[in-house]
Amino acid sequence: MNSHPMVPSAAKFIRNLSLRERNTFGLEANAELAYEITAADQIPAVMGEILRQQLSWRVLGGGSNVVLPATLRGATLLMNIPGQEIISADAQSTLLSVRGGVIWHELVAWTLENDLPGLENLALIPGTVGAAPIQNIGAYGVELAQYIHSVQAFDIRTQTLTTLPKEACQFAYRDSYFKQQPNRFIVTNVVFEIPKEWQPRIHYADLAQQFSNNPTPTPEEIFLAVCKIRTQKLPDPKIIGNAGSFFQNPIIPVEQYETLLLKYPNLVSYPDIAGKRKLAAGWLIGQCCLKGERMGNVGVYEKQALVLVNYGNGTAQDILGLAKCIQEKVKKEFGVNLEIEPNIL
Ligand code: EPU
Repeated sequence: MNSHPMVPSAAKFIRNLSLRERNTFGLEANAELAYEITAADQIPAVMGEILRQQLSWRVLGGGSNVVLPATLRGATLLMNIPGQEIISADAQSTLLSVRGGVIWHELVAWTLENDLPGLENLALIPGTVGAAPIQNIGAYGVELAQYIHSVQAFDIRTQTLTTLPKEACQFAYRDSYFKQQPNRFIVTNVVFEIPKEWQPRIHYADLAQQFSNNPTPTPEEIFLAVCKIRTQKLPDPKIIGNAGSFFQNPIIPVEQYETLLLKYPNLVSYPDIAGKRKLAAGWLIGQCCLKGERMGNVGVYEKQALVLVNYGNGTAQDILGLAKCIQEKVKKEFGVNLEIEPNIL
């Protein structure tokens, strides 16, 4: 019998760590002091040290939704907490607890192998489980929030690990309480509630097309179809640096949408909450003749205008310069503001 109290493990730290391999844009970035977090109980000591030394700090998950500067001063927390387990199951649903460092796509594949379908439309989204609730990842008609039970996070204000039930997370399109309160929470664990009842969601145009001859696909078939569509449309970060959609699809008042529709009858849009309409930003950018446009080391991806790419030696300034140019052109043509999706550190 071990009568010693549980002693928290200590986080490893590394000085001057290159993050080039840890951000999908492939930007050269040097972290002055990087802490590798492999267990939630390491966070209080690390944050205590950061506050004591009054260092600036930020958290990096899979690095798939960030634009990094050449130097990250102060501390960078690399979230690598592994592990997952089913915590309970009843006739209605299964509760699955997953640590923040688990790779999102690996989790999706694991749920299907373990007969827990539901997340298949979210296959191949880059990044980690811990980052997923922050921007409420979504694709092909499904949003993460639909499967969240609760989120555990270290709250900087109270210096404690806290559990936020789904309602407290304030999920919305590409948004959450965590995103609204920057530098307050470090997500350590996500509990998913996966209903036993399953139905295919193939109404999204690209998927509907894939299944035009098969109205009752299996979860595995949907998983493979989503992987195929994403592979065809989105650049593989291992080959060409990118952070997925660089802009959010703008949500505008219905009156503004109707006025735009008179001038642009082919305008691509989706229904949104009452009185609002969501526009396909990729279409707006394409109409400004920017698809495939290159500006030095960076450019607009030729198959999906919503994605900005780094051809090799691009910097944060290059990417933000291109983004500004796109925002200005779209504003001038359509009177619509495009909001940047990734975190600009
Ligand atoms: N479109 C164009 N030109 C383009 C891109 C899109 O005309 O260059 C039009 C087409 O009509 C197309 C429609 O817009 O059918 C929708 O395009 P797509 O299916 O590629 O979806 P999206 O609205 O551009 C959103 C998400 C993606 C997600 C897809 C699929 C945002 C910001 N992006 O893109 O998420 O994979 O839907 O559900 O909501 C990400 O966030 O990184 C991401 C890739």
